[in-house]
Amino acid sequence: MIVTIDGPAGAGKSTAAKKLAARLGFQFLDTGAMYRVVTWACLEHRVDMQNPDAVANAARQVEIRFDGDRVFADGHEVTHEIRTIDVTHESRHIAGNVEVRSHLVELQRRMAQGRDVVSEGRDQGTVAFPHAECKFFITAEPRERAIRRQRELKARGEAVPLQELLDQIIQRDRRDEMREVGALKPAPDAITIDTSVISPTETLDRLERIVRERMTERSRSPDPLVRP
Ligand code: C5P
Repeated sequence: MIVTIDGPAGAGKSTAAKKLAARLGFQFLDTGAMYRVVTWACLEHRVDMQNPDAVANAARQVEIRFDGDRVFADGHEVTHEIRTIDVTHESRHIAGNVEVRSHLVELQRRMAQGRDVVSEGRDQGTVAFPHAECKFFITAEPRERAIRRQRELKARGEAVPLQELLDQIIQRDRRDEMREVGALKPAPDAITIDTSVISPTETLDRLERIVRERMTERSRSPDPLVRP
């Protein structure tokens, strides 16, 4: 079974997706990490981010591998390197590249082939897995996401004004939503969950309940169609 979880940055979807996969015994697919690995590889090999062909080549050449929570690029562990501010910032050039997107979507489908997967990103329910049995769109008000981000940064000893974080979030949402391919939007059959109004535990319980209901429905009426 494929479960997709899409939504904007900072809505709590990564944590929810990871925990949901653990509760269900499904594999967790962090597609944002794949875009980050390509970004990291471009920075590492000094690829010109303004050159779409060079970026697409770099994407096709880098070997991306997951091992539990650990991420590898060409056999080199990059779990932490891909989370730097630099990578986050530069990833927009990668995420906007049509060829990179189609290559990564292909990889995502291959990784999920024949498996039970919770796949998290921006376009998982719309582009990568349009036939997924269970689709979620997890969101939260921009202000709430900015407050959470400020709290996280404070815990790391960094004080950043709320307005600055709010502006960054709004800008990033706009870029994600305006993309020509793989734009951030809920699939027509996705269930939207707004985490501004419910707790992380409640979110997780709700996700798990819905997936288990779908699993039961599916076991009662198996779909004879084999879909990609
Ligand atoms: O979710 P995360 O912040 O790790 O995503 C890293 C980058 O990859 C962001 O720029 C995001 O917009 C992009 N992304 C994407 N499509 C996905 C997952 C992430 O364009 N399926």
